[in-house]
Amino acid sequence: MKAVVTAGKVTGQRLSVPGDKSISHRALLLGLLSEGQYRVFGLSRADDVMATYRLVEALGVEIASGSSSSISLTPASEKVIEPKDVLDVGNSGTLIRLASGILAHMDGATFFLNGDASIRRRPMARVTQPLRLMGAEIYGRDSGNLAPLAIVGKRLKAIEYRLPVASAQVKSAVIFGGLGADGTTVVEEIEPTRSHTEEMLLAFGADLSIERSADAVRISVAPSQLRGSDIHVPGDPSSAAFFIALGLMTNCQVGVDGIYLGPQRDGFIDILKEMGAKIEIVADGKGSFDVTTGPSRLHSVATDGHDAASYIDEVPIIATVAAICDGISEFRGLEELRHKESDRIKTTLAMLRSFGVECGEHEDGLFVVGNSHIQQSRLRVVDAHFDHRIAMSASILTMALGGSTEISGFDSVATSFPTFVDLLRSVGGSVEFDPSEL
Ligand code: S3P
Repeated sequence: MKAVVTAGKVTGQRLSVPGDKSISHRALLLGLLSEGQYRVFGLSRADDVMATYRLVEALGVEIASGSSSSISLTPASEKVIEPKDVLDVGNSGTLIRLASGILAHMDGATFFLNGDASIRRRPMARVTQPLRLMGAEIYGRDSGNLAPLAIVGKRLKAIEYRLPVASAQVKSAVIFGGLGADGTTVVEEIEPTRSHTEEMLLAFGADLSIERSADAVRISVAPSQLRGSDIHVPGDPSSAAFFIALGLMTNCQVGVDGIYLGPQRDGFIDILKEMGAKIEIVADGKGSFDVTTGPSRLHSVATDGHDAASYIDEVPIIATVAAICDGISEFRGLEELRHKESDRIKTTLAMLRSFGVECGEHEDGLFVVGNSHIQQSRLRVVDAHFDHRIAMSASILTMALGGSTEISGFDSVATSFPTFVDLLRSVGGSVEFDPSEL
């Protein structure tokens, strides 16, 4: 669906964003593995998370709405239902990969997983290959690399696995597989990635341990009796990043309250600070943080891919900020961007070029020739390629530069950030949809 985003005068204010998507997926998926009712507060209602919601329900998890934005889950452990239909993961790579690790050991049941056109293009061998080493029976096109996937659940065997890519999804799939494997499964990562799976499994009582050394993180997991315990989902830093960027690009004080800033999720703040951003971070006493932008003189930056997993989802919006700062910014070591909802090296560059930004491609990244004087008001046209982070980056750049932008594939924003349009309007933007498409 197309939308026309038009800039208005940006007004400084405080906002809150929906619950973190990564934590929300896991909060629901744990209902397939645990016993005992638990509540989830502040679950994201993003399309990706709703696909997980429907998937766990189809497998027997009972979900009821509770008070004060909570839901209550009655897990399906020991009685996961073999679903009558194909399980639809929508646009969610996290869902298909994490669910594969769980379903692979649901002994005696067969599952079919499919998603949208983007999902059917994304590499699945990164999870099917280690799960097959554990004895999993998984089929897919291209020798198990491409969805749709068929999974025949069976008891697995433990492996020691060193991650070939820095991916929390792959790590999580193997850890989830390890919960249904004979022996202790060990996953080793050379570059740390987000640790929600480990932390949430520990809170549910899993037999899991984490050893951190100078050059690796080793996670050991054995089959465990998991017990549900209440989960409070903090605000999504990857959603907050768009409004933090907006505050910085327009020199307005924008605050986003209650966001998660745990390990491997806060890398974008470090890069923005390296670009000269003044960002105040205050602990809110509930384990999350209130983040506020201050008047900043931004400049270009060079990153080499070190700790890329800590900011990989924010590269499109960081590159967007770089577009309006003088100097050439270089972003390297980001091959993983080619495997996201779109090839985000290409789609970020195409989006920036639609605004007249000079930029270029490397095999493993991109460069942006920043210009603090780009000012245009003609109607630009952007194809978001149904990638939510490209559509939102284009919207924020429109707000910073003025004028209007027609964005096709704009409805993808609901993939991760269902309140984006309301919040954009609340800071002074206008978003109009083509009535013939509504
Ligand atoms: C996610 C892990 C990351 C991230 C994605 C969510 C997760 O993907 O890009 O948006 O919730 O585990 P990779 O594991 O492919 O790096």
